[in-house]
Amino acid sequence: MQATESAEHRAEKHQEHGTDAGTEGKAAGHQGGTDDVDRFDFMVVSNRMPVDRCSPDEPGCEDGWRRSPGGLVTALAPMMTKTDGAWVGWHGAPDEHLEPFSHGGIDLIPVQLSTRDVELYYEGFSNATLWPLYHDVIAPPEFHRAWWDTYRKVNKRFADAVIRHAAEGATVWVQDYQLQLVPRMLREQRPDLKIGFFNHIPFPPPEIFAQLPWRRAIIDGLLGADLIGFQRSSDAGNFMRSARRFLGASVKQQQVHVKGADGQTTHIARAQAFPISIDVKQISELAQKPEVIERAKQIRRDLGNPKTILLGVDRLDYTKGIRHRLKAYEELLEDGKVTVEDASLIQVASPSRERVEQYRLLREEVEGTVGHINGTYDTMQNTAVRYLHHSYPIEEMVALYLAADVMLVTALRDGMNLVAKEYVTARTNNDGALVLSEFAGAADQLKQALLMNPHDIDGLKDTIMRAVNMEPAEAARRMRAMRKQILTNDVDLWSADFLRALQEKVVRDDS
Ligand code: G6P
Repeated sequence: MQATESAEHRAEKHQEHGTDAGTEGKAAGHQGGTDDVDRFDFMVVSNRMPVDRCSPDEPGCEDGWRRSPGGLVTALAPMMTKTDGAWVGWHGAPDEHLEPFSHGGIDLIPVQLSTRDVELYYEGFSNATLWPLYHDVIAPPEFHRAWWDTYRKVNKRFADAVIRHAAEGATVWVQDYQLQLVPRMLREQRPDLKIGFFNHIPFPPPEIFAQLPWRRAIIDGLLGADLIGFQRSSDAGNFMRSARRFLGASVKQQQVHVKGADGQTTHIARAQAFPISIDVKQISELAQKPEVIERAKQIRRDLGNPKTILLGVDRLDYTKGIRHRLKAYEELLEDGKVTVEDASLIQVASPSRERVEQYRLLREEVEGTVGHINGTYDTMQNTAVRYLHHSYPIEEMVALYLAADVMLVTALRDGMNLVAKEYVTARTNNDGALVLSEFAGAADQLKQALLMNPHDIDGLKDTIMRAVNMEPAEAARRMRAMRKQILTNDVDLWSADFLRALQEKVVRDDS
């Protein structure tokens, strides 16, 4: 089953890295190869692996590791703990070489990034070119040829790690905008693989995508996959329109006949929406744990038991509409519609991409605004906005969800927004109100939320007040409907649906 490396040998290596040995049961997924590596029938590839390097004084850091930030890991980690397979990714520390190891029951294959790779590929092309371009150019994207060259080079490194560890005929699932060239690179060298790709963030309309100097290469990279998944059907439509416009691809319904250099069809790539979800069981169980319920009560007490607690939970990212939310809240305080005695806003803003200029500016602006609001409205006893620039373990997040009467998700553009789904799942008593931006993918599924346009500050203020004053019967009706949607569409179903569709035989439509 395993290649030449023995379980004992692997266990020794894992201990060196201070992680668990992970030899339990996972060997079933490996197949013998001719060289000296473990090979896997199923592989996930993403820029982040599920754990991230941290220093012991940071909250949530255990033995030098903590859960990686963001929705991608939130969604994929539960599936990978139940699956035989390996996860290829970067472990968050530049210049550190690690051998494959296992953590939390997942086999991990680390890809090394140098300090310069982090600057050019991760902070540069991924997060200062693609991220703003794919999120409605909320911030201006920057285009630099050196960033692009490194993006290509690093994508190749991820592809090489897969090529080395994938068993014959393996299924490989590539994730997100950081790795859009990997599907094509895999197909060229390993046509035996089944290749899936999932984009966790929006895909822009062709009119915006057109700005990218390397638009053809990106589309070509993605078309290396058999199945390209998106959060919303509008994203899949945008991608197909770009494939037609920039590559002249012949698109029929959801299929593209991808041609090789000889003009012959090599494979059919399909693009389709698969809205991602969360680990419903984990959140529901936590929400019913006495310690978590007690912690929620404690949070309310610590804030002086106000009538209403409002909550925002986001990575500190300009796509999340935190400034719009604060503006609306400040005006509500100014208008006297809410008071610091009756209401308190908790804003958790987890640190993110802190070396990227736009993120630095955002942090300054948000912290300046919070300081201004609190300076104006706080009393000796009460604080208007409790601002927390930390990330917290999931138990604490669920306690916050239970403590909050109103959840504010005001994203200007968001692939999905799993925080909205976590809040609804945690409300096992069917109370609480969700204010949700229509620009978050979650709005397609959570139709009974109070949907709004965060650019419309008056509309946002009215919607917040509707949520604050909502009758319990209406809140329960809405929450019940939203819970039904999420409880029957959890993340296991999402991955099962995608992987089933990936294995489906595609009928060629040559008409
Ligand atoms: C979003 C992206 C993920 C990313 C996460 C955290 O959810 O879709 O790909 O991992 O944000 O961002 P970071 O830059 O810290 O990986």
